[in-house]
Amino acid sequence: MRRFGLIGYPLGHSFSKQYFTLKFARESLLNCRYDNYELENPDLIIDLIQLHPDLCGLNVTIPYKTEVIKYLDSIDDESSEIGAVNVIKVTLRFGKPFLKGYNSDAFGFRQALLPFLDGRKIEGAIILGSGGSSRAVNYVLRKLKIKTIGVSRSGGSGCISYSDLTDKLISDNKLIINTTPVGMFPAVDEKPDLRYEYLTPSHILFDLIYNPELTSFLKEGKERGCKIIGGLTMLHLQAEKSWEIWNDQNL
Ligand SMILES: NC(=O)c1ccc[n+]([C@@H]2O[C@H](COP(=O)([O-])OP(=O)(O)OC[C@H]3O[C@@H](n4cnc5c(N)ncnc54)[C@H](OP(=O)(O)O)[C@@H]3O)[C@@H](O)[C@H]2O)c1
Repeated sequence: MRRFGLIGYPLGHSFSKQYFTLKFARESLLNCRYDNYELENPDLIIDLIQLHPDLCGLNVTIPYKTEVIKYLDSIDDESSEIGAVNVIKVTLRFGKPFLKGYNSDAFGFRQALLPFLDGRKIEGAIILGSGGSSRAVNYVLRKLKIKTIGVSRSGGSGCISYSDLTDKLISDNKLIINTTPVGMFPAVDEKPDLRYEYLTPSHILFDLIYNPELTSFLKEGKERGCKIIGGLTMLHLQAEKSWEIWNDQNL
């Protein structure tokens, strides 16, 4: 049996188990299974690895993408630069499990975003939230030479706070990305605390949330003629990238 799974807490919102279970059935990968492992704290990953010697790979979600790094034997250069891991590959080295971390969120975000930029030059972007996935988003935008402004509730560690988000900042920065869980099922009526009235048709709104597909954040943008991007395409892209990493014999 080749065992895969997702770690995080809580995991009620996650689509990954359904995604991989359908994929394994569709591709007749009968020796593969994917399960949710809800870990109340990240050090339980050690017990999980011991309990399942057939584990080949894990995805990591809220809230452990950064915290999990200290339990890994190695991480690749890209996730090291990002400072967050959402894929763990488990191999055996000298008879012991060897855990290496990767980041497929960056790949998924970049590939989902590029078709919407359509060659257009975006000068600046606003990133809402300062958790694990915001780091991958920030990394991709830096590589695309788009300046970023981070927004967090506390306004600490290089971010501004929501109350500092002026009409000018919203007008000047045409790409706004929600990397917070605000608006995720079941709290679907919630949305980030933003002055939506300053959005224009030249704005692009990207919500990493994929459940629901059309979040209240995106609805606000849609009503004002913005281009909107939901999290589902990114989810599929990052999942397929995870699968590629787990199966690459050279990694
Ligand atoms: N589509 C995809 O493929 C994909 C990939 C990755 C993540 N996601 C989604 O992205 C979201 C975040 O994931 P993550 O792993 O980055 O989570 P995370 O590490 O927990 O970070 C989320 C950040 O959101 C902010 N936040 C949390 N609760 C908030 C609240 N009540 N109000 C305002 N801000 C709040 C916090 O930033 P501050 O403390 O700075 O405010 C927190 O650091 C989740 O919905 C996840 O499902 C989707």
